[in-house]
Amino acid sequence: MTTATLGSPLPVMDPRSFEADERTEEDPLDLMDEIDRLKKEKDATILAHYYVDGEIQDVADFCGDSLQLARDATKVTTGTIVFCGVHFMAESAKILNPEKRVLLPDLLAGCSLAESCTYPALKARQEELKAEGRDVVTVAYINTSAAVKSLCDWIVTSGNAREVIEDRVPKDKEILFVPDQHLGRYLVEVTGREMILWPGSCMVHEIFSLTDMRRAKKNNPGSEVIAHPECPQNILAESDFIGGTERLKQYVMGIEEPRTFLVATEAAMIHPLEKAAPRHTFIPVPGIMTDSGETCACNRCPHMARNTLQKTRDCLRDGKPEIEWKDYFDPAKEVLTRSLLQ
Ligand code: 13P
Ligand code: SF4
Repeated sequence: MTTATLGSPLPVMDPRSFEADERTEEDPLDLMDEIDRLKKEKDATILAHYYVDGEIQDVADFCGDSLQLARDATKVTTGTIVFCGVHFMAESAKILNPEKRVLLPDLLAGCSLAESCTYPALKARQEELKAEGRDVVTVAYINTSAAVKSLCDWIVTSGNAREVIEDRVPKDKEILFVPDQHLGRYLVEVTGREMILWPGSCMVHEIFSLTDMRRAKKNNPGSEVIAHPECPQNILAESDFIGGTERLKQYVMGIEEPRTFLVATEAAMIHPLEKAAPRHTFIPVPGIMTDSGETCACNRCPHMARNTLQKTRDCLRDGKPEIEWKDYFDPAKEVLTRSLLQ
């Protein structure tokens, strides 16, 4: 595989050090109208992940999970894509559509999983395993930088991980799964494949409180827990349904009689769930603060929350910040295309 030249890495951020996001004083309805007008004027399409604020999802042309958005990006006919999500998602959209201008409302919208697995660290681990004589295939969750993707054999999302591992990774190979240890552990369970797991985790799912979840279950008799596989094993073990964001949505849509669901994933996910199946009640499972042990509203991803209506309008209007093409996007394109589009 080609050796990638590394660009400057995204700064590693401690979410507790974030300044309060400069929330807009502007009327959200005016901003939404302006965004609609600018989309036409600037020949742009907005893609939004289910974890961004509901009002941004409402102005987007495509909303979805990581897999669907990567696929939708290849169907865009306008010259510009505005990706309301996080850096690795906009980067993937650029890699799959080199001829398009791809904008991200805030370049600092990163991801704790992507930050946990750097290019040098992964390369060193792969070399270490090779030196031990182990024949390893590297499977990466899409929540990784393009430089890291360029070192990998397969890229998966929560929506296709099981089928890629079961149908496409040769049975005689060992798997090094990066960077989400919880998703990896879940995949070991459902596929029966042994995996070497990278010790990364999502800062949002990592801190869901089992005590709060049990309490919510007790207070809502007959409720069901639906959980994202980025949750730790103790949460998944007590969940009724496990799936990536799109699968969670399809699951609740398939249930006719009104029910209460306790939602163990990023809290903005409640918005598409309520839109898709308004007959149900959705209650977010709170997180727990790692320092104090208190429960909190930390089931919002601070990176996703960097996307605001105002920044979306600004980036449409100004044509920046833009994802610039890097030389290591070429090998990343090969593995992304093979894994997600074929
Ligand atoms: P999916 O929408 O693909 O399930 O991903 C969840 C996530 O954490 C994105 O950052
Ligand atoms: Fe990354 Fe977790 Fe935020 Fe998704 S929710 S972008 S996995 S930190």
